[in-house]
Formats: sequence, C-alpha cells, structure tokens
Amino acid sequence: PVLVVDYGAQYAQLIARRVREARVYSEVIPHTASVEEIRARDPLAVILSGGPASVYADGAPHLDPALLDSGFPVFGMCYGFQAMALALGGEVARTGLREYGHTVATIADTTSILFSGQPAEQSVWMSHGDSVAHAPAGMRVTASTAGAKIAAFEDDERRLYGVQWHPEVLHSTFGQNLLEHFLYAGAGLTPDWSAGSVIEEQVTLIRERVGDKHVICGLSGGVDSSVAAALVHKAVGDQLTCVFVDHGLLRDGEAEQVEQDFVASTGVRLLVVDARERFLNALAGVGDPEDKRKIIGREFIRVFEQAARDVVGEAAADGHPVEFLVQGTLYPDVVESGGGTGTANIKSHHNVGGLPDDLQFALIEPLRDLFKDEVRKVGLELGVPESIVWRQPFPGPGLGIRIVGEVTAENLATLRAADAIARHELTAAGLDREIWQCPVVLLADVRSVGVQGDGRTYGHPIVLRPVSSEDAMTADWTRLPYDVLARISGRITNEVDGVNRVTLDVTSKPPGTIEWE
Ligand code: XMP
Repeated sequence: PVLVVDYGAQYAQLIARRVREARVYSEVIPHTASVEEIRARDPLAVILSGGPASVYADGAPHLDPALLDSGFPVFGMCYGFQAMALALGGEVARTGLREYGHTVATIADTTSILFSGQPAEQSVWMSHGDSVAHAPAGMRVTASTAGAKIAAFEDDERRLYGVQWHPEVLHSTFGQNLLEHFLYAGAGLTPDWSAGSVIEEQVTLIRERVGDKHVICGLSGGVDSSVAAALVHKAVGDQLTCVFVDHGLLRDGEAEQVEQDFVASTGVRLLVVDARERFLNALAGVGDPEDKRKIIGREFIRVFEQAARDVVGEAAADGHPVEFLVQGTLYPDVVESGGGTGTANIKSHHNVGGLPDDLQFALIEPLRDLFKDEVRKVGLELGVPESIVWRQPFPGPGLGIRIVGEVTAENLATLRAADAIARHELTAAGLDREIWQCPVVLLADVRSVGVQGDGRTYGHPIVLRPVSSEDAMTADWTRLPYDVLARISGRITNEVDGVNRVTLDVTSKPPGTIEWE
C-alpha cells in the first residue's frame, strides 16, 4: 500500500481517501510507527500528513530521518513538509506569521514532476505558523506563496517531494492532480485499485474462512450492515442468516425497505423480530437522553441475543454450528480505535447491529479496509437497492433520540410523519447529496401557542437540523433554499397533528452536536 503517516488532526484519512480516488490502495499508519514497522509493511510510497503542531512544540511528532533514506518515494504535506525539511538538514523558522485559508501559490517550475502541466498561479489551502526558511541540500524549490518563500520542493533523484499546503482539501484547486503526479510520475505507480476488486478478494477470503459453518448478521437498515451482509451472502449464500430487530424507532418506510427491498434484491435469509412493544415499554416515562440511549442499547442486545440463540439452536439441530458474526466495521472506525486518544464521552453511541460482549462468535468484517464512499460503490455493484446505499447516516437509537422528551407511540407517529415530509421535499428539491444528513426533531417537552383554522392551538415544535459535513466530526448547518424550507414548514404544520411550529437549527458542530440528544 501507499502508507499515510498520521500526524494528527484528521488529515491522514482524507489523504488516504484521495489516494484511493486516484485508484491506488492506501492505508493510514500512526506517526509512532518506527521505520522498521513501516519497512515491514513494504510500502510503495509514503505520505507524511499535516498535523496541528509546530515542529518545535513540546512533544511534536518526530520524523526519523532514516525513513527518508529507505528508498521509498516520500511526499510531505504541511506539517509533513516541515518535518521533512528539518530531517533533511534544512531550516524551519518560527516566523510568527500565520497563513491560514485560501492563498495563491506561484509555481516556479511547471515542468517539475509535481506541477507539470499546471498553471503558474493556483489557489491552495494553507494552515501553518512556522515556515521552511532554507531548503535542504539537493532540494529544488518549486513554489512560493506570500507567507512562505519555500512552499514546495522536490528531489527527483531521491524521489522526495513536499508542499507547504494541503493538496487533499478541495480548496486546493490542483491538489488531486498534484497527488496523482506524485503517485504516477514520482512513485511510478499504476492506477489499478478499485472498490470493485474488493468484492472478488473478499468473497474468496470469506469462503475460505467460513467453510461449511454458519454465519449470523445483525441488520440495522443502514448502509454498512446491509452491504456487509450482501457481500457475505455472495460468498456463502444461505449459510448466512440475517437478523433484523424492528425496535419501532425507524423512520417511515425503513423497516419495509429492509424486509422487502433488501431481501428481494439480495435473496438473503432474514429473521425479523418485532420488538416494537418491548422498546416502548422499556422507554415509558424516560426523558433523559443518556438513559434513553442506554435503555435502547441494552434492549437491543437482549433481543438480538435471543434471536441469535434461536438461529444457533436451529442450525445446531441441523448439524451446522454458527461460528461467525458479520460486522459492518469501516476503515475510519479501525483507524480511530487504533488511535486510542481517550476523547471525552460526549454521548453513548452505539450501533444497532452491534456486538454483544458475551456472544462467542468470530468476527467477519468485510468492509474493514473501506471508506464510506467505497462501501456505497461495493453496495451498488452487489445490487443493494439505492434507497439503502444512498441512505444518509441515521443513529442506531433512531427516532428515540430525536424526541426531546418521552418516547411514546404518539410522539413517534408525529415525528415520523414530519420527518417523512421533510425527507420527501429535500429529495424532490434534489438536495440529498448536498446534505450530510437532516435530523428532524420533535420537542415533545416544549409547547407553544398557535392559531390554526379558527382556533388557538397549543402544540409542539419540530426542529429541522440540516448539516453539511465530511465525516460528522465537525459540521456546519446547511443553507437550504428558503422556498424549500417554506414548503417543508407549510406541509408539516398543515399535515401533522399536534405540530404548530417549524424551526431551523442554525448551529454548527461544535458547539452543537448533530443530533439533539
Ligand atoms: P453527534 O450527534 O454526536 O452525531 O454529532 C455524529 C454522527 O453520529 C450519528 N450518531 C449515531 N450513530 N449510533 C450511531 O450509529 C449512535 O448512538 C449515534 N448517535 C449519533 C449522528 O447521526 C451523526 O451522523
């Protein structure tokens, strides 16, 4: 693979995605990995990511100069660029000048490997305090900006390259082109990796591992568990049993999409457990968000365990032990859990379809190496319905954490109706791909006075929370067109009983989280 050394601040994953978009397989490795560990991975090239720190800050991640002598093509970006300059004997100055955001880079040599064929002036995205003051010996300086005399360098002989900016962000107009120049011309790699090739590879691996044993999978109706199930089904057919726990907290039409569309298009064997009553009973009288999350998580596991035991029992009676559990784990989860940064527990997230601790199965995680957009491609190739593949993120605890107040059958019906209208109008306006997700929230604990028909009403507000994001870690509120907002508001207040007001949440994340609870 092409290894992206992670100097922090989430740039590394984005770089790995961009490399894969260039059809070269790429993985992230922490900056604490030693040169021996990196060599052992046999990388085709190494990219040093940006990071939050100054190379002079206490505890700043260190770049071992031996990595640059290992013969791999290396490309440093931002922090990686400065770390590279320092490790090669150049000088990094604490100028005290900060350059942040859009900047124009002037390219000194548009025939160089990185910049060949590109315009001599281009918009780039900067975020740095220190600057490279002297380039290391042997390095040719190829670009500058107002705040950085030395903004890019390359040494084609040793195949070492660097830029001060962030080519991976879309604001750097020629960023992807630059990266491709490094990969194809600098490192000599061929663009031949694709999400599609993952299917063949995984099918073979899964068949080998599973043999004639049985496999179980919890379906949530979301993209990840559906695609994972479809992939395993392609490999082992009816040796897979999927369990779908209907907890009654899904949106309008979602349970049907799983029970009908998914089964029809993939042919998986599905066990549906109707647990709607059970969840309502468990949630009765509960208003605290964390209590709700814990109850939903706990009940889910209990129901899933019972269903799993039934499947295991049936299979055993047939002489086929169930030995494996499918999980829709994605690459960002893998990278993040390897990071172990001990971040504060803001919310008790849980994945419906998640793994009960004491279920003794070996895991099959066929999507472990993939990013979300790649999972979608795999899903489409496997024939998973578009309604599922393009579904926006939806939290495991579902509508349960979109009702501020008690989760009752009535509140659920109200919210489901309002949500269906909002989703319908957003889709009709062609905005689905622009929005990361749009939670619709019912403030069941809040009432306001309204006038509808000839009379006073005392109803509940609905909150629209459209957000734009790349990864849900940070988000901004989406500037939806007023006429779309007006249509949603008009329809909800007219068509949904008990709702007399629609409000728009204009908070970014941070400080707000995406969900209200
Ligand atoms: P927050 O509200 O923390 O949400 O900004 C970030 C993203 O995570 C989703 N979310 C969840 N997903 N189980 C999940 O699988 C959960 O318990 C959960 N809570 C929030 C949320 O929809 C957003 O995409």
